[in-house]
Order: sequence, then C-alpha cells, then structure tokens
Amino acid sequence: MSKTVLGLTLLMVIIIGVVVMQSTSNDGPVEEAIAGRWYSEQQVAQGEPLYQTHCASCHGPESAATPNWREADENGKYPPPPLNGTAHAWHHPMSLLVKTVKTGGIPLGGQMPPFEAVLQEQEIRSILAWIQTHWSDEIYQNWIERNG
Ligand code: HEC
Repeated sequence: MSKTVLGLTLLMVIIIGVVVMQSTSNDGPVEEAIAGRWYSEQQVAQGEPLYQTHCASCHGPESAATPNWREADENGKYPPPPLNGTAHAWHHPMSLLVKTVKTGGIPLGGQMPPFEAVLQEQEIRSILAWIQTHWSDEIYQNWIERNG
C-alpha cells in the first residue's frame, strides 16, 4: 500500500470514528421532557433535594402533609396542604404555583414563608416538577385541561 493510500485510509477511519461518536453521544436533546409531562428527568433530579431542604419540613418528605389540611388551628390558621395531588395545588396554573412559592402565604393571611430571596425561578420550577411526579396521570390531565 502506498503512503498516500495509507494516509487517506487513516483519515477516513478518523472521520467515520468522529461521526459515529457524535451520533451515539447525541441521543436527542439533553433536556427531553418525560412522556406526557412538561418537565425533564434533569428537572426532577434537581428539584428533589431542593424540596427536601426547603419544603419537606412543612409539606412532608413525600409532599403528603398535612392530611387534616382542611382544619384550621385555634388561631384560625390552616396547616400546610399536601402538594401530591390530593389537595388543590392542581387547581392552580403553573404561573400561580411559581408565584405562591415566591411570595408565600403570609401576605394572604397564611403561614407559608416566601422563597423568592432563597430560590431562583428555575429552581422553583424544578421543585414543582418533582412535586408533580406525585400526581397521577388523571390529576395531571385535569391540571392541564383546567389551566391549559
Ligand atoms: C413553614 C412551613 C412551610 C414551608 C417551609 C413551605 N410551605 Fe408551602 N405552604 C405552607 C402553608 C401553611 C400553606 C397554606 C397557605 C398558607 O398558610 O400560607 C402552603 C401552601 C403551599 C402551596 C399552595 C397549595 C395549594 O393547595 O394551593 C404550594 C404550591 C406550596 N405551599 C409549595 C411549597 C414549596 C414548593 C415549598 C418549598 C420551596 C414550601 N411550600 C414550603 C407551609 C409551608
């Protein structure tokens, strides 16, 4: 084999190698949404530890607290409602959920602290994504239809 042919063959192998590597390392967009939902696996993964740090103390580790959320205490204040789809978080559009987390409930006479100085909007959206993984497809569909 002449040096030119050898050189060209080597070049071809390198080019093919690069093309193959790119096509296998690039399985569609990185931030692909979970089927039927607005959010990605990455957002859920980011949201879970943030939820556990900032929200779980009141809303419970699985966002199921508090079962008696309809009963006001002796001061007329309501306990943190479950966010897992059993209360009415799914009645609210995304924009209002984000706003609730940013401003909290205190301005409305509630008890939830504001998070706008603590969390970025993108972090709040990731927390809400993790919360929504607890929503059944039926609840999620109701939320989409109600707020879509
Ligand atoms: C100190 C306790 C406390 C913490 C911490 C807290 N919440 Fe709340 N949350 C509440 C209470 C109590 C309510 C009911 C409204 C009120 O009293 O402000 C509420 C209401 C909500 C609602 C409205 C639910 C509905 O059914 O309308 C959402 C959404 C929510 N919280 C999300 C979060 C998220 C996300 C975090 C963490 C970033 C968080 N909360 C942290 C106590 C808390």
